[in-house]
Amino acid sequence: MKDLSPKPGDLEAIENASRDEIEALQLQRMRWSLNHAYKNVAHYKASFDSAGVHPDDLKSLADLSRFPFTKKSDLRENYPFGMFAVPRSQINRIHASSGTTGQPTVVGYTQADLAMWDIVMARSLRAAGLRRGDLLHNAYGYGLFTGGLGVHGGAEKMGLTVVPISGGMTERQVRLIEDFQATGITVTPSYMLSILDEYKKQGLDPRQSPLKVGIFGAEPWTNSMRIEVEQSFDMHAVDIYGLSEVLGPGVSCECVESKDGLHIWEDHFFPEIIDPQTGEVLPDGELGELVFTSLSKEAFPIVRYRTRDLTRLLPGTARTMRRMQKVTGRSDDMIILRGVNIFPTQVEEQLLKVTELAAHFQIELIKKGPMDHMIVHVEGSQNASDELAKLIKANIGVTAEVKAGKKNTVPRSQGKAVRVIDNRQNG
Ligand code: DLL
Repeated sequence: MKDLSPKPGDLEAIENASRDEIEALQLQRMRWSLNHAYKNVAHYKASFDSAGVHPDDLKSLADLSRFPFTKKSDLRENYPFGMFAVPRSQINRIHASSGTTGQPTVVGYTQADLAMWDIVMARSLRAAGLRRGDLLHNAYGYGLFTGGLGVHGGAEKMGLTVVPISGGMTERQVRLIEDFQATGITVTPSYMLSILDEYKKQGLDPRQSPLKVGIFGAEPWTNSMRIEVEQSFDMHAVDIYGLSEVLGPGVSCECVESKDGLHIWEDHFFPEIIDPQTGEVLPDGELGELVFTSLSKEAFPIVRYRTRDLTRLLPGTARTMRRMQKVTGRSDDMIILRGVNIFPTQVEEQLLKVTELAAHFQIELIKKGPMDHMIVHVEGSQNASDELAKLIKANIGVTAEVKAGKKNTVPRSQGKAVRVIDNRQNG
C-alpha cells in the first residue's frame, strides 16, 4: 500500500490547534448556535423554555448538558420545514432521509452551510490521503441521500477529478475505475464487496487496480472488514461518518496514517456521549450513545441530537480533535436474542474469520414456537457454515443457525446493506 501520510503544510491550522484554542472556539460558536436556534426555531424556544434554560445560561461547554435533547421524532413532528432557522427562500439545498420507516426527515442548507460542508468534507478526503489531482470514483448514491452530493462538493473544492457515478450498475463501476484510473473510491463497505465480486467475475486482479484508498461509511463495518478490503485491493480503507440531521458525510473521518478511529471535526460539531437509558453525560472513554450539537449551521441548527449510534470518545492522535471509536451499531439495530444483545457487526467479525465463506451476510430472525431463532444467511459450503456457527456460539454466546447458500443468494446492497430481517411478528 502506498504511503499517503500528510506532508508539512497539507493540513489546515485548526486541525492541530491546541485543545484550549479548540474549546474557546467551540464555546463561542455554541453560544451563537443556541441563540440562533432559540430565536428562530419555535421547537427550540418551546423545548428550552419548558426545560427552564436559556442560551445565556451557557457559561461553559459543560453547561450544554442542561439543555434538552433533540430526537428524530421532533424532526418528524416538524415536517417538512419546521426546524429551519432561516426563511425557505434562503435555503440553497434540501436533503431527506428515505422515510421507509415513517415520515421522511428533511434537512436544509444555506449557501454558507454548503461552503462549511465542502470544507469538512475536503478535510476528510485529505485525512484519508487524497490530494489535488487525484481521481475520485464517488459511488455513494446521488439524490436526496446526503452521501453522493455531500462527498462531491468537498471533492471538487479540494481539486479532485470527481466521477459522480452514484450506486448501481456494478459492471460499469469496475470498467470506469479501470478506464479512468481512479485513485480513490467513496462507497458503502457492503457495496465495495459487490465491486470486489465483479472484479473477480471479469477476471481482473483487484490488487492491480489503480485504487490507493477507499473511504467507507454510511453503515457500520468492522476492522476485520478493513483488513479484508485492504488485502483484496492492496489499498487503504478508512472510515467516514456522518448523518443528515447533523450534516451528512464529513462529520468525522479517520486519518490514513493512524486508522485508529474517526477524528470529529470539532470546530463545527460538538460531541457528547450519554447513557442511553438515563440521558446522563458520560466521561470520555465510556461507551454510550453519541449526541451532536452543531456549532455553525445556519439553516438547520441542531442541539443535542440523539444519533442512536453507539461509540466512545477518545483523545486526539493524528489530529488534536477528539476521535470516536468505530461505531458498533445503532441501538435500533441491536438484536435482543433470548436476552443477549447482538450487533450485526459482531457477526461480521466472526464471518470474516472463516475464509471459505464470502463476506456477504444477512441475519433473519424468526420465532420457533415461543423462542426467538436467529438464522445467518451466508454463501459457501455447509462445513464452513458449521464452523461459523461454532465461532458465533463461542464468541458472541448465542446459538445461531447458519445457512449456506450458493453464490448470490444473499441479497446485495447498492448502498446501505440491510443486515437484519425481523420476521418474528410473522411466524
Ligand atoms: O449515511 C451520511 C454518510 C454518507 C456518511 C456517506 C458516510 C458516508 P444518513 O443516511 O442520515 O447519513 O445515515 C446516518 O448512518 O446515524 C449511522 O447509524 C450510520 N452511519 C453513517 N456513517 C457510518 C459509519 C449518512 N462510518 C446513519 N459507521 C448514522 C457506522 C455509520 N455507521
